[in-house]
Amino acid sequence: MKILITGGAGFIGSHVVRLFVNHYPQYKIVNLDKLTYAGNLKNLTDIENKPNYKFIKGDICDAEFIQNLFATENFQAVIHLAAESHVDRSISNPLEFVITNVMGTVNLLNAARYQFQKEGATFQKFYHVSTDEVYGSLGKDGMFTETTAYDPHSPYSASKASSDHFVRAYHDTYKLPVVISNCSNNYGPYHFPEKLIPLAIHNIKNNKPVPVYGKGENIRDWLFVIDHARAIDTIFHNAQIGSTYNIGGHNEWKNIDVIELLCDIMDQKLGRPQGTSRALISFVKDRAGHDLRYAIDASKLQRDLGWMPSVQFAEGLESTVDWYLNNDVWLQEVTSGNYQNYYEEQYHKR
Ligand code: NAD
Ligand code: DAU
Repeated sequence: MKILITGGAGFIGSHVVRLFVNHYPQYKIVNLDKLTYAGNLKNLTDIENKPNYKFIKGDICDAEFIQNLFATENFQAVIHLAAESHVDRSISNPLEFVITNVMGTVNLLNAARYQFQKEGATFQKFYHVSTDEVYGSLGKDGMFTETTAYDPHSPYSASKASSDHFVRAYHDTYKLPVVISNCSNNYGPYHFPEKLIPLAIHNIKNNKPVPVYGKGENIRDWLFVIDHARAIDTIFHNAQIGSTYNIGGHNEWKNIDVIELLCDIMDQKLGRPQGTSRALISFVKDRAGHDLRYAIDASKLQRDLGWMPSVQFAEGLESTVDWYLNNDVWLQEVTSGNYQNYYEEQYHKR
């Protein structure tokens, strides 16, 4: 099977690519990524020379390029992760999110549809990776299930909700074999340091203020990224066509509690007196339209397909801190922008 993975140079995509390349030597994995600021080929140096892996730089919004790519590569499946993913950026520049997340997804759906409908077609699956943010914001109680009505609040979540609707529409209208999953907040290695946890690790390490929006009362349901990649593997191989699965860690934390725990872990790792890093916490202006609480009910995934998270939060957070402290070069290259030269240096000359 030849599988197109989009956004494979990003945070979650790189873990999904690594898992598929390593676990399924019989598959051919093609990683298509535009290498925006969020795409980093240094996330994949350990597998870049494997015979079942190929990287292609390209834009999911370029219709002609995508049609040609499908025509020449004859993919049997797509796992679609490419997206603009940061809520704060979507507040500053919503249109970019519509273009990539909505139009880019529709572009891919069109190409998959032709691939699926052509004579002798072997196209099997279009797997769309989405987010719990499409369901909106919870109060104190309740959880998102697969039947919770969509109620997005940020331009990011509105664009992801729209892309989910298009994926389902292509199933209903053209019988395209689709699967969707909606996952909660991920954390772990290779997370771009604009998101809460890696930003906090970076700032604590460098004795810089750690910005906490509002009063830090907002709640997120954190899942270790490798557990998300495992869930994607399980769903890709076992879910019924047309189905949706929620993925989550049953692991709700207030932002301020996550940050305080991180400060304490960092104090211990850096040999600072306990309490030193907590002094860096800085309450700043709240995010506009800030969703209060996300909580995923992932019982359908456990019941139907037997998936469960394998990494406890305390263990996952500590190993994430260790990863960032042991991979200072990765972090420095990301913060300096040097990582963006890697494609030209390593790939262009091949
Ligand atoms: P990311 O921002 O780290 O990576 C996105 C990748 O997509 C980057 O490599 C980027 O270069 C690529 N990309 C962007 N625009 C592109 C385009 N036009 N053409 C080709 N490639 C393009 O994102 P992430 O956090 O890894 O999220 C991956 C997917 O998972 C997204 O669809 C996101 O909505 C979803 N998701 C993320 C989380 C989370 O906690 N991070 C949780 C649930 C779902
Ligand atoms: O729920 C899944 C979503 O999780 C994904 O779909 C998104 O792609 C991903 O970015 C993430 O969205 P969030 O907005 O929840 O993640 P972020 O790391 O930006 O923020 C987490 C929480 O921390 C949120 O309540 C906002 C807050 N925050 C964030 C930053 C960057 C702060 O308090 N300070 C910060 O500096």
